[in-house]
Amino acid sequence: MALRKIREFGDEILNKPCKEVKEMNFKTKLLIEDMFDTMYEANGVGLAAPQVGMLKRIVVIDVTGEDPYVFINPRLVETSGEQTGQEGCLSLPGKSGQVTRPNYVKVVALDKNFKPFELEATELLARAICHELDHLEGHLYTEKVEGELQDVQDEDDED
Ligand code: NI
Repeated sequence: MALRKIREFGDEILNKPCKEVKEMNFKTKLLIEDMFDTMYEANGVGLAAPQVGMLKRIVVIDVTGEDPYVFINPRLVETSGEQTGQEGCLSLPGKSGQVTRPNYVKVVALDKNFKPFELEATELLARAICHELDHLEGHLYTEKVEGELQDVQDEDDED
């Protein structure tokens, strides 16, 4: 298990667009493994490569803790509906804000074996996909927050 340092709000790498991944190789495989380790360790449900300092179009998401997804070069091909709810980001620890997102998305991407796949998602998974794909364009949820950012209680205080 290898953890990478999570870049935080203010780090300019978070505002840069990411590059297409051209091939799967050892370094990219390792990056994906490390992204999962880093996300789980931080109790997150999603992480994008720029958040660990890599300007590559790679996202990992697991909204249930047992349903890990890797999206390489992901692209939204369809969105519909609307959901409004609290959102957070591992690059802004301790903060959350209200964001409106599509309630349904269809995404096409490559998986960890570089095989194309298509996924339809709703609710939290759809929200996570939209949030993480924004990271690949250099955008943070703070640009979409309705009202003020809020402080969230740290549920790990007892640790
Ligand atoms: Ni984020």
